[in-house]
This record gives sequence, C-alpha cells and structure tokens, in this order.
Amino acid sequence: MAQKSRIFTATALALVVLATAAACSPQAGASAGASGPSSAPNQAHVTPVTPTPTPTPAPTRTPPAFDKHAHSINKANNYWVVVNKLRPLNPKTYSPSDIINVPVAHDNPPRMRKAAGNALVKMFAAGKKAGAGAMQIQSAWRPYSVQVSVYNGWVASLGKKQADLQSARPGYSEHQTGLAVDISPVPLKCALAACFGTTPQGKWLAANSWKYGYILRYPKGRTAITGYVYEPWHFRYVGTALSTEYHLEGATTLEGFFGLPAAPDYAN
Ligand code: DAL
Ligand code: ZN
Repeated sequence: MAQKSRIFTATALALVVLATAAACSPQAGASAGASGPSSAPNQAHVTPVTPTPTPTPAPTRTPPAFDKHAHSINKANNYWVVVNKLRPLNPKTYSPSDIINVPVAHDNPPRMRKAAGNALVKMFAAGKKAGAGAMQIQSAWRPYSVQVSVYNGWVASLGKKQADLQSARPGYSEHQTGLAVDISPVPLKCALAACFGTTPQGKWLAANSWKYGYILRYPKGRTAITGYVYEPWHFRYVGTALSTEYHLEGATTLEGFFGLPAAPDYAN
C-alpha cells in the first residue's frame, strides 16, 4: 500500500513538472491551434487541472431517406401506380381483385380496394369527430365498362374537348384502380363541384387526408400537369408512407413528386 502511494506521488509529481515545462515552452501557444486562443501570456504557470471529460452525445438515429423507387408506379395493382393521360392502365381493362363494399354512406356503389376502403372509413369518422361534418362516397370504383358509359355521357353532353378535362377515357381512370374516391357532404351539397373545396368537409379533407393515406389528386392550378380541372372531391389512396412524404414535401401532383412528364393531353 505504502509503495503504491509512493509510486502514485512520484508519478503525479513527474506529470506536474512535465506539464509546467510544456506550458512554459514557446511551442505551447502555437500548439493550441485553431480551437484555442492564439496568445495567453498570463497563463504560463497555472497548475494544470484534470480536464473534465466532454460528455459523448447520445447517438441519434437519422431516418433513412424516403425511397421513391421502393415500389413500382407502373403496375396497376400497386398503391403507388401513377395513372394519367400518358400513362394508361396496363392492361387498359385492368380490374382489381380485392374490391370490398365500404361500410359508409354512398350515392353510388361503395366499392373500393380493401386498404383504400378501410382507410376511408377511418377518415370519414375522423372528419366527423373533428367537426367537419358527415361525408359520403359519391363515386368510387368504376370498372372499365362503367368508365365507358361515364366518359361517353360527358362527351355527349359537353363535347370531347371539355369532357377530356374532367373525365378520364376508359383505361386511363384512377377510379378503375379501386383506389380513387369522389367524396361529397351529407346532406348533399356541392357534389362534384368546385364549391366542395369551400365546404367544411372539403377543407378538412384537403388538410388531413394525408394522415389516412389519401392525396388530393387534381388540385387547383395544376391542369397543365394533371390534365384535369380542379377536383376538390377526388381523393386517391396511395398508402400512408407515400402520402406522408408527399405532405412533408409539399407536393401537389404525383407527376411532380415522381419527376414524371406533365400529362395535359393524350398521345392520340
Ligand atoms: N374525373 C377523373 C379525372 C376520372 O374520370 O378519373
Ligand atoms: Zn374522381
């Protein structure tokens, strides 16, 4: 024990001597480098103190960057599929295999793909709870044959040019994927009209649909990109991973989000 203590005392003394010599050395100031003061004339003989160890910061986990190539945007049955006037469904007669009846109020058959329908139930309930009012499905899944009649109906009443601005040709509609839904208020008001965007339901959906995996697909002022007029009632299910990133980035179109060409018109 005594020997240990002597060795300790001798070592400590030696350290003090060495440290003092280093502090007096003309190199001491220079070796402080960029992190210390370049001259400290009155500190040469200060007895060094044991430096307090710098606490190591707790490791932080950086979330991996969102991978926009994680899923195909070409496959009709993928939640990320991008359908527009230049990107028809493949095949054009595509029909999803997991259509369910969504248990919500509706004006037309409340049929959608399972994930989209389940998310819609939650979204309608949340909107009502938040005080935005009741909502219903105005139009949801439209198989190819139904899109044929819907599109032809618009062409008959408005002419082809105007019809193309608000209704997709068969094989080019998101409604055919079972992932798109037109929503209107209950009681019915501003159904499929621009004024839906000014209703409490329209405003709430525009601000909150991303939390449920939905995006507003045809926003105001984006006709030159999407090919369609403002449709504040048309929401597209993409899943919460994509809708959250879309929201965080402030994206307004799927074309912009994925770096795709604008699709104002059909190729022919
Ligand atoms: N109204 C949208 C563009 C559709 O017909 O799919
Ligand atoms: Zn729609």
